[in-house]
Amino acid sequence: MRKQLAIYAVGLAGLLLTGTALAQKFPPLAPLPPVPIPKDNPNTPAKIALGKQLFWDNRLSGDNSMPCVSCHLPALGWGDGGEISRGYPGTKHWRNSQTILNSAYYNKLFWEGSVTSLEAQAPAAAEGGVAGNGDTSVMEMRLRFIPEYVAAFRQVFGNEWPRMFDAYRAIAAYQRTVVSDASKVPFDRHAKGDKKALNDSQKRGMALFNGKAGCIQCHNGPLASDQRFYDIGVPDHPGFKDDPLLQVTHRWQYYQKGVSEGVYRDAANDLGLYFGTKNPKDKGKFRVPSLREVKYTGPYMHNGVFATLDQVVDFYDVGGGPGMNKTKLLKPLKLKPAEKKDLLAFIDALSMTEPLIHDDPKLPGDYQPLPPPVK
Ligand code: HEC
Ligand code: HEC
Repeated sequence: MRKQLAIYAVGLAGLLLTGTALAQKFPPLAPLPPVPIPKDNPNTPAKIALGKQLFWDNRLSGDNSMPCVSCHLPALGWGDGGEISRGYPGTKHWRNSQTILNSAYYNKLFWEGSVTSLEAQAPAAAEGGVAGNGDTSVMEMRLRFIPEYVAAFRQVFGNEWPRMFDAYRAIAAYQRTVVSDASKVPFDRHAKGDKKALNDSQKRGMALFNGKAGCIQCHNGPLASDQRFYDIGVPDHPGFKDDPLLQVTHRWQYYQKGVSEGVYRDAANDLGLYFGTKNPKDKGKFRVPSLREVKYTGPYMHNGVFATLDQVVDFYDVGGGPGMNKTKLLKPLKLKPAEKKDLLAFIDALSMTEPLIHDDPKLPGDYQPLPPPVK
């Protein structure tokens, strides 16, 4: 009996060690550092306030119905709550609307990581055919006929007239303020020494995350994302098989992204990173998303196929799905029901205890005719 116990103890120590050894190979989860701010776009209170108005302003979209906030609603985790995002009227989008919470910390944005700064991301959103679908010069001209914007742009950027280039910089500056409040994130409070911040179940979940469940291999560092790309075998969205409007967007995206005709004709699923690199080994790979604030940002994955975090954990428990370039890092986990509960409790501790909400800003008034030029 004693011998058995001893073997058990050694085994247990071994297990714990494996967990620790695994975690040691990766940057640990940790509180987020201050938001990185690019030197050529410093944040000022006036710029942030202007960016917030622009994020909300429907006039920055083709038909005045698709401002940024229409697909990134604070009350829906700064996404739109759908599996696939709503699209520009008459179209369907093809991917899940990502949260913009903490997007300031990524150096690769979008599910396929195709742009590298918020300044470059904003035009892709406001002008993209299935998103804002606005024409740059038309939107710019609209801003020039709204006196409050003319004054604000002059004050913030020092140019005589609003330019879309500056509008996107203001929107980026605003998004750098949409970040988790560490004082409300149980994990962050724990990391900063608050011994009561995590309950026992969450602590066991943290050990699983760093050990047996292996989440730390990809969801690591302060953002809980290594910003690398993996194919984890997320199932295709059923709509791509039977919804013609989704198929239209899907084919159009293939076409836009310069995929060869053979691949385009067989378009059946979202190839992710491949669109940028055209390397067959990248088919089906997507950027690792942060696990911060996921409590509020369902449904999950690039196509929103999982409605709940329970479903996500069940998916990982069987080792993910079959993929074109399926990562070797995922193996069946064989978690016991109690372990799943603990892991979910820990994931919950990576989100704020109440959602981050920003109130609607007061938008500038109507367009005004410009006075005749002074002779
Ligand atoms: C039609 C809905 C829609 C509109 C309008 C829209 N977005 Fe998005 N947004 C999305 C979707 C969907 C994605 C993911 C797209 C992808 O990966 O291909 C996304 C991704 C993003 C991301 C990347 C987040 C990350 O984790 O990489 C940012 C930042 C963002 N949007 C900001 C904006 C801004 C700023 C605007 C306004 C200029 C805007 N969005 C307008 C739907 C929308
Ligand atoms: C091999 C790297 C890897 C490992 C290990 C991994 N993930 Fe992921 N995770 C990803 C990628 C990549 C995505 C996005 C996949 C997609 O959309 O196709 C993702 C998505 C998610 C999402 C959805 C987030 C969102 O915003 O939609 C959750 C939740 C998640 N993972 C939790 C976990 C948990 C819990 C574990 C451990 C059991 C884990 N992951 C292990 C790479 C990984």
